[in-house]
Amino acid sequence: MARHSIARTGLAALSAAALLTLTACSSEPPAAEGGEAAGGGDELISVGFSQVGAESGWRAANTKSIQDTITEENGFELSFSDAQQKQENQISALRNYIAQGVDVLAFSPVVETGWDAVLEEAKAANIPVVLTDRAVETEVEDAYVSFIGSDFVKEGEMAGEWAAEEYDGEGYKVVELQGTTGSAPAIDRKEGFASAIEGTDLEIIDSQTGDFTRDGGKKVMEGFLTAHDDIDVVFAHNDDMGLGAIEAIEAAGKTPGEDIKIITIDAVKDGMQALADGKINYIVECNPLLGPDLAEVIKATVAGEPVEERIVVKDEAFDQEAAVAALPDRQY
Ligand code: AHR
Repeated sequence: MARHSIARTGLAALSAAALLTLTACSSEPPAAEGGEAAGGGDELISVGFSQVGAESGWRAANTKSIQDTITEENGFELSFSDAQQKQENQISALRNYIAQGVDVLAFSPVVETGWDAVLEEAKAANIPVVLTDRAVETEVEDAYVSFIGSDFVKEGEMAGEWAAEEYDGEGYKVVELQGTTGSAPAIDRKEGFASAIEGTDLEIIDSQTGDFTRDGGKKVMEGFLTAHDDIDVVFAHNDDMGLGAIEAIEAAGKTPGEDIKIITIDAVKDGMQALADGKINYIVECNPLLGPDLAEVIKATVAGEPVEERIVVKDEAFDQEAAVAALPDRQY
């Protein structure tokens, strides 16, 4: 199976310079001039977007970025649906959009596999597909024109490298709160973190899914605390699960950030506030502001211009001091 497979619609790759302009936009783009549609004509580009759900602060910020950018003012007509973290809901939304004959399909796939049939259907209907945020594994050739999102393996590595630098030599026991089972960020962050702590004396003693939700993180952490009395570090695949873990740790009479260190991924406002307050120790960012890049890719695709098949969004990382400095200007 091709993971992160190269998929094109017969379009040449953009030059490195052009790629740079598409990568890591952090602000919303201006409206298309004169209200003209993006393809160059007067008609709006119809876009069917299937979102994963509303599971986290990150997802809320990502949805806002898309809805603020794929607007009539910018030349688009957006049909948006929330799949409530269920693949069957995403597939049925995509099928509806195909039946409606939208110009472009976009989606953030809840899990990596199981998309071949609907991707074939989109291809047969000649509707270009853009992936945002999460990757798919597919056998379908030229299944999508572009995949816009972070490098999740790198995020896991950054988290693991910081843990190794701070805690190697202490013999610390780590528990891991995984994201949604089968999703690209859960698979990749797990892999990246494990590879970064290899060769250190940090040991992952338990690892379970909290489904990227605050409630899930809290419940799984309660179970970890009951099963293990020697937890030193929590690695949570997102801020929300880390925030749930904080509640469980406090309820167990321990101090998060001190008795049990916490490392998370996302850097949304609530997570950054907990980091600034010393309850989380380190956060690797996952930038949710994908709307501007999505708008550019759709416009280029519809205009028959080349698009880059992989647009990697740049992420930073924050310790307590950096979180205090970044919080006042944080957009999400
Ligand atoms: O796919 C990105 C991940 O999905 C975010 O890190 C997490 O918060 C969200 O649910």
